[in-house]
Amino acid sequence: MAVLILTGAIVALFLSESLVVKAEVRSYVAAVYEHRVILNPEPHVPNEREAALAHMSKNLDVFEVQAASAARQAAQIIVFPEDGIQGFNFTRTSIAGYLETVPDPRVVTWNPCTEPDRFPNTEVLQRLSCMAQKNHLFLVANMPDRQDCDNLTDPHCPPDGRYQFNTDVVFSDNGTLIARYHKQNLYFEAAFDTPPECEHITFTTPFAGKFGVFTCFDTLFYEPVLTLVKDMGVRQFVFPTAWMNQLPLLAAVQFQQSFSYATGITLLAANIQAKDLGMTGSGIFTPWHAVCHHDMERETGKLLVSKVPVLDPSMMEDGEESSRLKLIPFSGHSKHRSRSEELAEEHADPSWSMSGSQFDVHEQKKSTESDHCLAEDLGCSERVISEANTFNSIMMYDNFTFVPLRGVEGNLKVCDGSLCCHLWFQRSGPEEELYALGAFQGLHVVHGTYYLEVCALVRCTGTEFGSCGGEIENAQTVVDFRLQGTFSTPHIYPGVLGSEMTLDRPDESGWESKSEFYMTRKGMATGLVTAVLYGRVYEKDDE
Ligand SMILES: *[C@@H]1O[C@H](CO)[C@@H](O)[C@H](O)[C@H]1NC(C)=O
Ligand SMILES: *[C@@H]1O[C@H](CO)[C@@H](O)[C@H](O)[C@H]1NC(C)=O
Ligand SMILES: *[C@@H]1O[C@H](CO)[C@@H](O)[C@H](O)[C@H]1NC(C)=O
Ligand SMILES: *[C@@H]1O[C@H](CO)[C@@H](O)[C@H](O)[C@H]1NC(C)=O
Repeated sequence: MAVLILTGAIVALFLSESLVVKAEVRSYVAAVYEHRVILNPEPHVPNEREAALAHMSKNLDVFEVQAASAARQAAQIIVFPEDGIQGFNFTRTSIAGYLETVPDPRVVTWNPCTEPDRFPNTEVLQRLSCMAQKNHLFLVANMPDRQDCDNLTDPHCPPDGRYQFNTDVVFSDNGTLIARYHKQNLYFEAAFDTPPECEHITFTTPFAGKFGVFTCFDTLFYEPVLTLVKDMGVRQFVFPTAWMNQLPLLAAVQFQQSFSYATGITLLAANIQAKDLGMTGSGIFTPWHAVCHHDMERETGKLLVSKVPVLDPSMMEDGEESSRLKLIPFSGHSKHRSRSEELAEEHADPSWSMSGSQFDVHEQKKSTESDHCLAEDLGCSERVISEANTFNSIMMYDNFTFVPLRGVEGNLKVCDGSLCCHLWFQRSGPEEELYALGAFQGLHVVHGTYYLEVCALVRCTGTEFGSCGGEIENAQTVVDFRLQGTFSTPHIYPGVLGSEMTLDRPDESGWESKSEFYMTRKGMATGLVTAVLYGRVYEKDDE
């Protein structure tokens, strides 16, 4: 294994004027581990502490090997997935033997590895702490936490006198517990309580500055993560998750990438590998680049290691280069990338990755000037096929209004309520592959309640209209497009997904006007499965 120099490499750029510009982009090495969790076969049956520890040790043994492997590859931080130590499907009482009381690191400075006897019943915390210390890396894991409460004085205290939280813990590279985050948005987790107050948790590393913490389902809600991004300026996140893939709009890596792109953050996402439950999809995402893994076939874990540019604004040099790195969340991404964005991309050197699936934003085919009816002239309405051809079909439990794509190019429009979606497209490939443009505005109510405004171009699973919105992973049709919608929310997550779960991304995206958000993409290397502008109207969730 080569020894790698990690601190701020110098990159020289040779400009056409034969000027040599030296710019420094600080970087660090991050690892995420997709873990094939060893489950308790009977999660509803209570386990004594000893049996629970024996079970959790099996998963921690795997973590130990992977933390060492990451350290050998020079990783400075590693993230393990949600539920990766105990598994899932416990009840409030059956999880009792698995719980440890995690002290609040804002109040107590504690190194469980070097002070194991300070708090009782903390075997898991001790092992994680020693793993961080031994391998000299920051370590993020997820575990169940018990906090006793007084049901006489605390109105939120559950009747049995204790909170049980789905909890992320973070250790520094010397084993000190430095952060604890209680998951805010639970996903039907009978064993756990929602924290009485939403927590905005960050921790600081010497190599990359500040990181924020959030968990799985949190990614679909405003709190806590958008407060961390928009109000607190946090630009790097660790994200333990146990995410069930749901095509065509919410496969794990698909939304991880959209989230990173739309918010302008780095996301270190570690998922569970569990084929039966449809869980896979982890990655290291920056606003420009991704190293990721999605594997529904092999039932094995996967370690990803990648060099990542530092995005903490306070760690950057003053001046133009660094100010360009401060992307504004939800502002869209210009196709004219700045020099520092290019530098940042170069620093996310794909050769560092251990991943199978990667993409590179440099690899955009030159697009020839088009004489077609592009969105700039969406007003050329004589060519816009109106809503005469619309049909309804269910996509991911929501009743979308669709219009089919006909011919090899065209302009389409479809509306649902006040949301209107426009598409210009030009397609090549098998004619029998049916595509449709869909619009949905409304409250999603199955497996969670959240208000959506979605414009989506999807490949249908068959040739019938009723097959539009179903799950499909493959496509041979290459589609150049511009997709645009009239959104009432500023929170739009753009995503482009190619055949075989190939992550792609827009050439360009942004606000065309105050309420119209667009993205464009031409010359994809694979067939198009989904192009989506996924809008979240957080303030309407409770309506
Ligand atoms: C856990 O629960 C989910 C949904 O409730 C179910 O689909 C799954 O089969 C369960 N898994 C196990 C391991 O019990
Ligand atoms: C409060 O919690 C205690 C256990 O700590 C329990 O015995 C008691 O029944 C609870 N009271 C109520 C009103 O739920
Ligand atoms: C251990 O790490 C913490 C957090 O980074 C730091 O504050 C502390 O000084 C370190 N302790 C030692 C003994 O190095
Ligand atoms: C979807 O919406 C359309 C139009 O409102 C309606 O006619 C149709 O019955 C709905 N479909 C389902 C399955 O609810």
